[in-house]
Amino acid sequence: MGADQAKANGPDLAAGVAFADLVDGKPLVGHAGDDAVFLVRQGQEVFAVGATCTHYGGPLGEGAVAGGTVRCPWHHACFDLRTGEAERAPALNPIACYDVVRIGDRVRVGDKRAPAAAHAGVASPAVLIVGAGAAGHAAAEMLRREGHQGTIVLCGADTDAPYDRPNLSKDYLAGSAPEEWIPLRPPEFYAEHRIELHLGAGARVTTLDTGARTATLADGRKLSWSALLLAPGAQAIPLDVPGGERAHVHTLRTLADSRAIIARAASARRAVVVGASFIAMEAAAALRARKIDVAVVAPEATPFERVLGAEVGAFLRDVHEAHGVTFHLGQTVKSIGDKSVELSGGARLDADLVLTGIGVRPVTALAEAAGLAVDRGITVDERLQTSVPGVYAAGDAARYPDPISGQKVRIEHWVVAQRMGQTVARNILGQHQRFSSAPFFWSVHYDVTLSYVGHAERWDRVDIHGTLADRDCTIAYRADDRTLAVATIGRDMASLSAESAFEKGDQAALRAFGRQR
Ligand SMILES: Cc1cc2nc3c(=O)[nH]c(=O)nc-3n(C[C@H](O)[C@H](O)[C@H](O)COP(=O)(O)OP(=O)(O)OC[C@H]3O[C@@H](n4cnc5c(N)ncnc54)[C@H](O)[C@@H]3O)c2cc1C
Ligand code: FES
Repeated sequence: MGADQAKANGPDLAAGVAFADLVDGKPLVGHAGDDAVFLVRQGQEVFAVGATCTHYGGPLGEGAVAGGTVRCPWHHACFDLRTGEAERAPALNPIACYDVVRIGDRVRVGDKRAPAAAHAGVASPAVLIVGAGAAGHAAAEMLRREGHQGTIVLCGADTDAPYDRPNLSKDYLAGSAPEEWIPLRPPEFYAEHRIELHLGAGARVTTLDTGARTATLADGRKLSWSALLLAPGAQAIPLDVPGGERAHVHTLRTLADSRAIIARAASARRAVVVGASFIAMEAAAALRARKIDVAVVAPEATPFERVLGAEVGAFLRDVHEAHGVTFHLGQTVKSIGDKSVELSGGARLDADLVLTGIGVRPVTALAEAAGLAVDRGITVDERLQTSVPGVYAAGDAARYPDPISGQKVRIEHWVVAQRMGQTVARNILGQHQRFSSAPFFWSVHYDVTLSYVGHAERWDRVDIHGTLADRDCTIAYRADDRTLAVATIGRDMASLSAESAFEKGDQAALRAFGRQR
């Protein structure tokens, strides 16, 4: 997944440093031999771990250390400092752990430890997972890491094995991420971990019988389960206009979609992107990287306005305009011809590629037909169990009670889906965990990366600390003086602090975010 090893520079930590030079909770980054390592003190205890995040290679030495863990500044993966285990997504692999040798007033990094042994075996039920995306894959892996001994069957209607979906609108589409970064695991991983992976149209689960605990697949196979996870995700909404079915009109949800757009982009000169939210605008940036003219058409006055507000939206529009994107806002698409797109205002835009990003719908029909409670998503409780015991749901399709906002929410973020899958795995094994992660996502537009923690569907005030133009700011979304969400640009530590404050329910701490304009 492109996790480059951080350069092993800085002090030689194998030679040692004075204990007094270690500041509590502040990593000291250096190296031990060729390995980038950091030492960090928590009270009297000192830890030595690998300094490179196993997700995309983020600098863990610049992350947040608390409670025996370190959180990555880039996309908030969390690692246990004692074992190196990746406790929370998006990282899936552990970081290295080293012995810490303390002699007198000096500490040094000793030998690299053997990877932590898998947890002791847990006699556990046969698990069926419907959907081999973010949530389904993360659940399957976590079941094995937690010692599950029973069978795991992972059914995915997609033809590709689980892959890094967020990359499909970013580096992969832009042509700067090679194909080998995209699978979450190599093919042999599934057999090695005894995860039965069934893929393709035949593996689509078509009916569920929750009484008999059986599922039927499209190819007629019947599977039984003791515990079931529904993680079918969401589907892109197609653009319902004359010409919307033409071959050069694409949606972007799957790896096959991204490949089809790349193939079309090879001969395309002008693209129309319909929609102005995250996936559409990331795709616009990727197409610009391929030197294709891009025009964006959307009904709103400002891109991203619904999620980020008008000021941040206007800033991101300027960023895209500076990269050559043109906008046709306050308009919709009337029809799509062979070589052009007609807008509601009457204008006609040349286009040999049309990419629509107008939103997604949660996949709930299977759950609904099986008699599960569905309310704009599959309804789950705080432990992510549906209305039927032993049946769980996670990811884009699930609506869960969010302890932070006190509301039932359905979130469409990669990290949330993975963490929900991980929580379901632990609950299948009887751990009774509440799902309490703060929602988090990131989005990339050229050299601007935005991180967002929390969930604000409506707000009455947006406070900004720092400046958007400098790409260095914290943006707080508030209602009735409660902070609902915090977005940051160029301030990864603030994003990590906000995540921690949300998870502690610390509204007093959150009040400081975005203040002192
Ligand atoms: C292009 C793109 C870019 C994105 N970028 C970001 C980002 O930068 N940051 C972020 O936080 N989020 C991002 N997201 C959102 C993120 O990818 C989703 O929130 C996440 O993938 C949801 O995970 P999931 O497991 O619920 O569903 P999915 O990952 O969609 O997986 C669901 C799987 O279930 C399968 N399925 C459905 N029904 C059945 C059935 N009946 N039987 C068998 N299989 C079935 C589907 O084929 C699919 O493979 C992006 C999404 C897209 C499409
Ligand atoms: S690089 Fe660390 S979480 Fe992504």
